[in-house]
Amino acid sequence: MSLLPTATISTIAHHNGEIVTLAGWVVHKTEKGKLIFIRLRDGSGVIQCVVFRNNVTEATFAAAQQLTIESSCRITGAVRADARAPGGFELDVNAIEIIQIAPEYPIQPKEHGVEFLMEHRHLWIRSSKQHALLRIRAEIIAAAQEWLNDQGFVRFDTPILTPCAAEGTTNLFATPYFDLGTAYLGQTGQLYVEAGMMSFGKVYCFGPTFRAEKSKTRRHLTEFWMIEPEVAFALHDDNLALQERFVSAIVQRVLERRADDLATLERDTKPLERCVPPFPRITYDEALKLIAERHTDVEGCTPLEWGEDLGAPHETLIASLFDRPVFVERFPSAIKAFYMEPDPQRPEVALCADLLAPEGYGEIIGGSQRIHDPALLERRIREYGLNVDDYQWYIDLRRYGSVPHSGFGMGIERATAWIAGTHHIRETIPFPRMLYRMYP
Ligand code: 4AD
Ligand code: MG
Repeated sequence: MSLLPTATISTIAHHNGEIVTLAGWVVHKTEKGKLIFIRLRDGSGVIQCVVFRNNVTEATFAAAQQLTIESSCRITGAVRADARAPGGFELDVNAIEIIQIAPEYPIQPKEHGVEFLMEHRHLWIRSSKQHALLRIRAEIIAAAQEWLNDQGFVRFDTPILTPCAAEGTTNLFATPYFDLGTAYLGQTGQLYVEAGMMSFGKVYCFGPTFRAEKSKTRRHLTEFWMIEPEVAFALHDDNLALQERFVSAIVQRVLERRADDLATLERDTKPLERCVPPFPRITYDEALKLIAERHTDVEGCTPLEWGEDLGAPHETLIASLFDRPVFVERFPSAIKAFYMEPDPQRPEVALCADLLAPEGYGEIIGGSQRIHDPALLERRIREYGLNVDDYQWYIDLRRYGSVPHSGFGMGIERATAWIAGTHHIRETIPFPRMLYRMYP
């Protein structure tokens, strides 16, 4: 006894002319006299199932009449090629087994406000655009990990409960931790993945990261997923070269494998097709010049003093000047994390870069070469007002066989928003966590 289907909709072409059983949910239904048309989805696709009164038992026709939107059922029938059908196939129904009749579904085929949809996120993810977005997210994650695996990287999982900060102290989520004081939810896996790098050479971590961001923008979540490669002996330029190959490989794979989903989202794929190395590079100083010259092009964009960080409008402006992702490198050390290697030619700037996505999607990657000298690292920890005792293990990595090394972190949701062409990051993760939302 099994309720599993004998075929799935995405591969229904292999069953042309055969009798199959599909299992899924009703998307839409119309009755026309002796005919009932049921659009059934099974998670892999949608197919039209045609119930003709003369071909089925009374009970089967009655079951078809009973079905409501989002009712669950198993439908058995013959697969028939039909050039007019979306997907190219229809099912001529022989039998219907109702699993559950759903009461009136809250999400109707009409315009709902985003707050209502967010409140019903657990149901909203069934609709076609959300489904396409989350499929693209899953493809990006798979592409990122498989590409790194193929390049000889080892996945190295890092802890989420951590004793100290890595990316600033103002956005930490804290939780009491037994007799040991306070634990913080990890803002990054980087510090630990650096330990892995000294063991394996090339590693990456991938998992949820947390920032108590009080910013309510379309680019910020309090819980987001990050993939963070780290490479021994890699210098700043090697790091950028790795990033452009990585990003390009992910984009090209989504173009190849998720073309249907991109079409569902009406994503213009031309800007994605251009996303091949080399990516343009400008320095922070050059970025400030461009902003001074052109700030009136973008609303809310104001000139910056040297030492100020780029905001969203500045990123939008810079990105608009290039036809593919652009690196902004060598930011002032003072506005970046404590672990970044200073530029030997100009110690007030760091050997770091942010990768800005085109079309106004903002920073998708942050990365840098890391300080490998133990004395300098210790000094920087103190300068940032952090407690050196908490970082002894991290400084140990520079005491025992230290090597120059570099790495970066790509936010999965930012990358998904850009590649899928979705304005707000909240739709790129199944259950977004934001300043004003924790339900469902
Ligand atoms: O630039 P960030 O803060 O860099 C790091 O955390 C480094 N430790 C990474 C590394 O070098 N291993 O964050 C990296 C990326 C950003 O470019 C962005 O894509 C994403 O993480 N990100 C966020 N995504 C959603 N919501 C937020 N609040 C985010 N903060 C960062
Ligand atoms: Mg950053």
